[in-house]
Amino acid sequence: MSVQNLPEAAVGPVRGRTARAEWRGLLIDSARTCYPVAVIKRVIGLAARYGFNRLHWHLTDDQGWRFEVPEYPLLTTDAAFLPRGRFDDYDSLLGDTRERAVTEQDEKWTNGFYSDAEIAEVVAHAEAHGIVIVPEVDVPGHMMAAIGVYPHLGRPAELPLPEGSMREHMWWPARNDLLWPTDEARDFISAVMRRIAQLFPGQYVHIGGDECAFQQWASDPRIGEWMRLRGVPRVERLQNWFMDIAAAVLRENGKRVAVWDEACEIWDDQEALVVAWDESRGMQRISAAGQRFVFADARTLYLNRIDPDAEVPQKGMVPGISITDILTAPWHEAQHPRCVGVQAAVWSEFVLDGDDLMSMLFPRLLAVAERLWNPDLDPADAAVRIAQEYAALRSAGALDVLAPQQR
Ligand code: ACM
Repeated sequence: MSVQNLPEAAVGPVRGRTARAEWRGLLIDSARTCYPVAVIKRVIGLAARYGFNRLHWHLTDDQGWRFEVPEYPLLTTDAAFLPRGRFDDYDSLLGDTRERAVTEQDEKWTNGFYSDAEIAEVVAHAEAHGIVIVPEVDVPGHMMAAIGVYPHLGRPAELPLPEGSMREHMWWPARNDLLWPTDEARDFISAVMRRIAQLFPGQYVHIGGDECAFQQWASDPRIGEWMRLRGVPRVERLQNWFMDIAAAVLRENGKRVAVWDEACEIWDDQEALVVAWDESRGMQRISAAGQRFVFADARTLYLNRIDPDAEVPQKGMVPGISITDILTAPWHEAQHPRCVGVQAAVWSEFVLDGDDLMSMLFPRLLAVAERLWNPDLDPADAAVRIAQEYAALRSAGALDVLAPQQR
């Protein structure tokens, strides 16, 4: 089915409305679940229908690496094909989410990577729909997949990895997900950032910077020596060393950089765009820093948190986020003079395929679209139109995503 054949939308950019924000983003996490290209294209078509204009594409994480870097072939021969993560340390889950995800994974879940031709296809599809792709390579943390195949990029204390130990390595309780401040890591980041700049024509590349467990660096008896060599005064400032390398390579290649809000707490780069996700901490960080930001507060915009009103049983995080929550949340931060827009996200730890993804996105993404486009939003009226639009999408089959073997 084609999204273009649907009747005129009842929510979002309906006739006469103008967008309330320049950046209207949606994050899709292909690192945890490598959705087929057809799913990504369907999401793009639907997101465009509701007036979104950025697809933040999360392409690397602890669980997988999703694009080719010729200098580092193991990223796609091996790190793209890791077994599905167990997420044992996650709490705040609905009921039997973890067990259901394990039971369903053989049937539903896909890993792998996107070839250059597939990325070009997605980019062209996005361009045709007025959406710019913002690819993300998350550094220096969330790097377990890459470190699993190139162990010298990670914590030296773990070297050498025991033969055939990559599987266990992923799940060691003491994480080894931070790049180490070595020449090898500098070369790695440089190659990866040059590559991502070649693959994606959009202005921005997101370089991550979230959830760095600095104590891993601190645990290395040689870290003081590394820091002296790099001119870094405090251990958490090591993160800046990585961000500076990534940003310099990207800027040489004509790009601008975006980061998660943790980075702006210590990385004083005023040119960076900050994506503020971390609930009240995100806004505290961005208030103290001076950068422009995108409002992406997990409390109302992380749609991997379950919809408490969903008709289909969901696998996801709690507390849930309802349509009413989205329509009525104050979002004062989105009025801030440095705020350039709003972004929703669906992380994929427990979202195993296109059907799961659609059930997390819809109908709630329609409520986000209303917030983005309707200056006189009346929650009761919006809820009626959202229900109407959702019914239209379902009856047109727009939310049905074929399983890979049926395509
Ligand atoms: C994030 O949710 N760690 C960006």
